[in-house]
Amino acid sequence: MTQPKVLVARRIFPEVVARLREHFEVDWYDENEPLSPEQLRRRLAGKQGVFASGTEQITAELLDACPDLRAVCLMTVGYNNVDLAACSARGVKVSNAPDVLTETTADFGFALMMAAARRISESEHFLRRGDWQQWRVDLFAGADIHGSTLGILGMGRIGQAIAKRGALGFGMQVIYHNRSRLAPEQEAPLGARWVSKDELLAQADHLILVLPYTPESHHIIAAPELALMKRTATLTNIARGGVVDEDALAQALGEGRLAAAGLDVFEGEPQINPRLLALNNVVLTPHIASASVPTRRAMCNLAADNLIAALTGGEMVTGLNGGGTDRQCMPFRALGNS
Ligand code: DGY
Repeated sequence: MTQPKVLVARRIFPEVVARLREHFEVDWYDENEPLSPEQLRRRLAGKQGVFASGTEQITAELLDACPDLRAVCLMTVGYNNVDLAACSARGVKVSNAPDVLTETTADFGFALMMAAARRISESEHFLRRGDWQQWRVDLFAGADIHGSTLGILGMGRIGQAIAKRGALGFGMQVIYHNRSRLAPEQEAPLGARWVSKDELLAQADHLILVLPYTPESHHIIAAPELALMKRTATLTNIARGGVVDEDALAQALGEGRLAAAGLDVFEGEPQINPRLLALNNVVLTPHIASASVPTRRAMCNLAADNLIAALTGGEMVTGLNGGGTDRQCMPFRALGNS
C-alpha cells in the first residue's frame, strides 16, 4: 500500500521525523532557512500533509496549487500564518500546538518582564563594556515586581499561567483585559480582576501582551494606548510583533514616557526596527519564549501526532477545524511575518 506523502518544512528533531517515517513517505527540508513561498509550493505539490511552523504562509493560493493537501499541522500555538477559512473550505485539516508550551512560555514572559523592570540586559552590557567604576545608590535602579500591579492583555492559557506566577509567587495584584471574562472560579485563585482596556493601560505597573494576532489586534498598542500608561511602567510582548506599533513604542521609550520594554517578537522579524536597537531600555530576544528543549520537543511531537491522526483516519489531538467548524474564528489577512 502506498504511504501518504508529507513535507516536513523545517529542521526539527530527527527522532520526530523518524516517527513520521513509520507512517509516511517523508520529504524533509532539513534547513533552518525558511522555504520561500515558491519553494514551499513546489515541495508541497503532490503531498497530502505538511508539518509546518509559524513561518510558512499557508494561503488560499497555495492550497489551490496543492490540491492533494489534506492536513496542515503546526508545531506552534500561533496560527496567524494559516488561512484557516480557506483550509476549512477545501476540507484541509489544520492543527496547532497549544498547552504543551504554556508553562515554558509563561516562565519566559515573566523573565523578560523582570529583565526589563530590573534593567538586567542594560546593566550587563554596561559591565561587559568595562564601564563599571564604582557602586552607586542609583546604579541601574529599576522598578519592583513584587507587590506591583500586573496587567495582562489576552487571558488565555498563557495569560492565566503568567497571572498565577504574579499572584502566587510575587504577591502582585492581577488585572486583565480579554474579550471574554474568565468565570469567577477561574479568577478567584488568581485574584484576577477584569478591567476595561483603558483601565488596564492606566493601572498596570507591568503590562504583558499575550493575545492572538488577528486583524483586530494589529497595532492594538500604539501611540494613544502608550500615552495612557504610567511613565514608570514596563511593556512586555510575547504575542506577535504586529500587536505593537514599534515606532510609537520606540518614541515613548526614547522620550522616557515608558520606563522599559521586553520584546520577544517583532513585526518584521527577523529584521528589527533600528529605532528599537538604538535604545538601552528595551530587552530584545529572538522569538524564543517557548524554546526550552523539552517544550520544543513536545511541540514537535504534538504536531506529528496530529499529522499521523489526520492522515490515518484518527482524530487530531488539537485540531482547529477537524469537525467542520473552526475552533476559533480568525479572519485571515496577509499581516506580515508575525
Ligand atoms: C508559537 O508557538 O506560536 C510561538 O510563538 C513560536 O512561534
